[in-house]
Formats: sequence, C-alpha cells, structure tokens
Amino acid sequence: MQVERLEEPAGKAVPETAQRAVPRHVAVIMDGNGRWAAARRLPRLAGHRAGAQAVRRCIQAAIQNKVGWLTLYAFSSENWRRPAEEVTDLTGLLRHYLRHELAELHREGVRLRVIGERERFDRDMCREFERAERITAGNTRLNLMVALSYGGRSDILRATVAIAEAVRDGRLDPAQLDEQQFGRFLYTDGIPDPDLMVRTSGEFRLSNFLLWQAAYAELVFLDVLWPDFGPTHFAEALDTYARRERRFGARPG
Ligand code: IPE
Ligand code: IPE
Ligand code: MG
Repeated sequence: MQVERLEEPAGKAVPETAQRAVPRHVAVIMDGNGRWAAARRLPRLAGHRAGAQAVRRCIQAAIQNKVGWLTLYAFSSENWRRPAEEVTDLTGLLRHYLRHELAELHREGVRLRVIGERERFDRDMCREFERAERITAGNTRLNLMVALSYGGRSDILRATVAIAEAVRDGRLDPAQLDEQQFGRFLYTDGIPDPDLMVRTSGEFRLSNFLLWQAAYAELVFLDVLWPDFGPTHFAEALDTYARRERRFGARPG
C-alpha cells in the first residue's frame, strides 16, 4: 500500500515513568476493512468481520493503558450511501456484536453509549442500543462510545436546531450561550473532548468525525488497515501522543 510518510516532529522526550501523558479520551476512525479484504480476494464482509475482532483488541488495549474514554467511529452518516448489501452486512454484524459481546463488555466494566442518528436504524436495533446502555450504565472502568450514523456536521446542525427552539420558547437566552453550553446540545454531552484522534489505513482526513469536539485533539495517522490493528498500534499512538506538545493556542512553554 502506498502511504505518504510525514516526519513526526522531534517533540519532547517521553519519560518512561508514571508522569508520561496518557490521553483521557481516544477517538478512533476504524478504516481499511474493504482494502484488507480486497488484498486477500475476499468479500468486503470478511474485512468487516475481521474489523470486529480488532474492535475487541482496541477495547482491551484502552483498558490496559488506563484510557478512561474511547470513541469508535463504526458507521458514518455518509456510510448509508454504500450499496444496500454492504449496509445490511454492517448492520447485521453490529446487531450480532451487541447481542453476543454485551455480557463480556459488562464483565469488563465497560459503559457503552451510542452517539449518532440512532433513529435511522430499525426499531429492533434501537432497542438493542437502549438495552446495552441500560445494562452497562453503572460501569466505570471504560466509557465506550460507539459512533453510529454519526456525522460531525449533523451533530452541530442538530444542536443548533435544538438551541433555536429553546430560544424561541424562552428557555434559553442567546446572550448566555457559550461553548460549554453549546456542547450540552451535542451527542457528546457529558463526554470530555478527545485528546487523541487516531485513523488507520493511511488516509489523512477526518471524514466528518467529531468536528466540534476534536478542535484541539492530537491527530495520529497509522499505516495499518483496521483488521490488522492490535495492542502495538495502540501503544504506538499513545507513544506519539506523549511526545507531542499541546499548546491550545498559548505561547510555547
Ligand atoms: C471501515 O472500513 C469500515 C466502515 C467505514 C464502516 P471501510 O469499509 O471504509 O474500508 P476501506 O476504506 O474501503 O478499505
Ligand atoms: C470513515 O471511513 C467512517 C468510518 C470509519 C466509520 P470512510 O471509509 O467512510 O471514509 P471516507 O469515505 O474514506 O472518507
Ligand atoms: Mg474507508
């Protein structure tokens, strides 16, 4: 695979000890299932199946590295444009995953939440989402957000409409609206902004993921197709993150 290589700036030295910066929230764009399958002359579904195994490894890696919040981009608002057969395959896999993995996630102390236009899925699936959220609501070891029919623009637009309605009904004074309050209208209400955003497959774009929330996220692009993703890739991303100097617009320190 041809992947453009960019030199990582020298950055700071990474201390091996406990003061090494660990991102509180990691967001992952899980990309490359189709290319993984094509390279093996397999149908795309095989790539998505293998991708589901990588999801397990990623969750384990987050837990092991004491990352408290993990958001996985599993299906974008734009992915509905794929051929109906692939959409059916993806939703079928999702249904299977929710039914068969929930007990294990719960045992591991994972709290699961779905962000995105969940109402675009069928009623049966919406019930699975609610069930998963209800069962795991008390867990605290890992907050896992699965982005499903998620789009950053639709997130911001939906929030704007809700805000306009609140202003119209006299529940909200526009003069009082600040960034923090705006954030309460987003799907990610109550969830800290991602510190680190990782994309696999060698593509250098956000594809409409967490546009508002990732304003100051560190971006790491990995040269691995999602089905091959494992703990060493997770560690590599954390290592790169630890070397970055975050400034948030302030003077370099
Ligand atoms: C990511 O893999 C899974 C989803 C977007 C649902 P892709 O299906 O996008 O795989 P590529 O990018 O075609 O290789
Ligand atoms: C982004 O991947 C969405 C997910 C990983 C769920 P895509 O494969 O849909 O993105 P583009 O089309 O390459 O931008
Ligand atoms: Mg893709």
